[in-house]
Amino acid sequence: MPIIYHHIASLQDTLNLLRSQQRIALVPTMGNLHAGHLQLVKMAKQHADIVVVSIFVNPTQFGIGEDFDSYPRTLEADVAKLASVDADYVFAPSIDEMYPQLPPPTKVTAGNIAMQLCGESRPTHFDGVGIVVAKLFNIVQPDVAFFGQKDYQQLAIIKQLVRDLSYQIKIIGAPIVRAQDGLALSSRNQYLTDAERQTAPVLHEVLEDLAEQLAQKIAADSFDESVLQSLLTKAAQRITQAGFEIDYLQVKTTDLQAIDFEAFKLKENQQDLIILVAATLGQARLLDNQLVLLNRPLVK
Ligand code: PAF
Repeated sequence: MPIIYHHIASLQDTLNLLRSQQRIALVPTMGNLHAGHLQLVKMAKQHADIVVVSIFVNPTQFGIGEDFDSYPRTLEADVAKLASVDADYVFAPSIDEMYPQLPPPTKVTAGNIAMQLCGESRPTHFDGVGIVVAKLFNIVQPDVAFFGQKDYQQLAIIKQLVRDLSYQIKIIGAPIVRAQDGLALSSRNQYLTDAERQTAPVLHEVLEDLAEQLAQKIAADSFDESVLQSLLTKAAQRITQAGFEIDYLQVKTTDLQAIDFEAFKLKENQQDLIILVAATLGQARLLDNQLVLLNRPLVK
């Protein structure tokens, strides 16, 4: 069984005795663990001697009217799952332990990268992610930390944070873990009714089809802004017809910049693309993404 720490000082006392000899990995989570989280822990075990999993439903990353109060808190079941993948320590602090003052007067903001996509409808979300991840990095001081690629924008923001604040931490993004029908695993999937759960894989199906269509257009040298818009409109219609309300459906370069269509026209410096979607089905706001790798097979 992993050892559970609720206090920063006691976790640090333990880790400080170990860190000169052993590599430490951190897997930050908000709990309610599923196979995607356990996959992160398995990867972490391969990269480090000690794996710390933090479980903290972070209030600062939830906006007003969002699901902070109802977010599932399942510490006992989470710890049992973590035992099955040999996690060493669980860090499960209280809100007071993490935030001496709430909201914290100190800000960790990510700038432009955080203002687009999820940041448009959740303007304070990434500030909350930034401060909690910065704090977890300072508390645990891991050599390596693991995040899921489902939260692609979050992963990009954390890489930027590590670069800009000179953390000596290697960030590893893990591929999306999906249910058999293709739905990306997420703690929020449990907000879906049975009927919505049947519908939800449409999101992934549409993204896969769109990725294939984009790859074909690019390969045939017929990719431009209007082609993209028309493919996006058709894809959005399929998602909406299935019952989703789309927050965004966009195609960006993999570093989350706007596409340089001129590069595609000239066939020079073309960059790999990523399709990103956020859409609400019933009570569940779901995220997914799909890479469009140029001249390479589609990654499913
Ligand atoms: O991805 C999550 O679960 C959270 O945003 C994180 C990184 C644990 C920060 O609270």
